[in-house]
Amino acid sequence: MKKVLLIGAQGMLGYDLLKVLGKGYEVIGVDKEEVDITRQGATRAFIKKISPKVVINATGYTDVDGCEKKMHKAFVINGEGVKNIAKGCRDIGAKMVSISTDYIFDGAKGSPYREDDPPNPLNIYGESKLMGERYIEELLDDFLIVRTQWLYGRHGRNFVETILTLAAERDTIEVVYDQHGSPTYTADLSKTIAALARKNLTGTFHVSNEGACSWYEFALEIIRLARLSRAKIIPIATSELNRPAKRPLYSVFDRERLQQKAGIVMRPWQDALRDYFYSRRA
Ligand SMILES: NC(=O)c1ccc[n+]([C@@H]2O[C@H](COP(=O)([O-])OP(=O)(O)OC[C@H]3O[C@@H](n4cnc5c(N)ncnc54)[C@H](OP(=O)(O)O)[C@@H]3O)[C@@H](O)[C@H]2O)c1
Repeated sequence: MKKVLLIGAQGMLGYDLLKVLGKGYEVIGVDKEEVDITRQGATRAFIKKISPKVVINATGYTDVDGCEKKMHKAFVINGEGVKNIAKGCRDIGAKMVSISTDYIFDGAKGSPYREDDPPNPLNIYGESKLMGERYIEELLDDFLIVRTQWLYGRHGRNFVETILTLAAERDTIEVVYDQHGSPTYTADLSKTIAALARKNLTGTFHVSNEGACSWYEFALEIIRLARLSRAKIIPIATSELNRPAKRPLYSVFDRERLQQKAGIVMRPWQDALRDYFYSRRA
């Protein structure tokens, strides 16, 4: 059975990835306690010691607003840390699969983003993630960069839980209507990452659940599925929020490459969200 090293196994995506990969691989899941990716020597030595065929990087400093204040931390983890893993992969000839983001785009295109559209991050998080991508492309031939967006999963803070918590506390919740993307369930994303890793593919892939919506529409669907009809969602403009990090207004992916090269079409985001609710009740 193929040996896979998953770094970031205790994160929201990592948790689901570990479960899914466990079905077809000999998978070793680790997090910061076992390997701190910002330490180059230790990271390369760790990868060498395990000697996997594939290394999956699900780590990240993922607090988008936090990255604006802690710029150094963002580049050290999302940029240099990724470089350290890539070097470890190069040392032993392992494939690297690394997770990136729609926030490398500025959102000005106005139609779905293809993998080869020029990046232009609006915030430090996006800049640092793009730095990580560039290191991988520079150092490795055999890699997959999986860009994804708007994640929610059972094992991490996410938008669905935030809306449910607010709905229990307040009568009205303000949510932005002018940012568009595709909500993506980490359980679905994990299956797609596992399938991509199994195929002999390289390069960058855009991966998200099908369809697209605004955060406002996403919140309405959450409230509907949770049958919290008393909570009223109020649409507001991004400009009214004044958050530290700028966000792209339109970062929907063109997913044609995923379909053509891997034969994968993920289910619509509404179906995935329904399953998320089932799993919460189980
Ligand atoms: N969440 C989203 O909406 C979203 C969207 C697009 C792309 N992504 C990308 O998808 C990936 C997974 O995201 P997620 O939401 O699952 O993130 P997450 O829950 O924040 O998990 C990230 C994991 O990385 C670990 N980590 C941080 N610094 C590390 C270090 N120096 N060495 C080793 N491990 C370290 C974290 O540990 P600590 O918690 O202890 O720091 C955590 O367990 C990330 O690459 C992220 O950029 C996420």
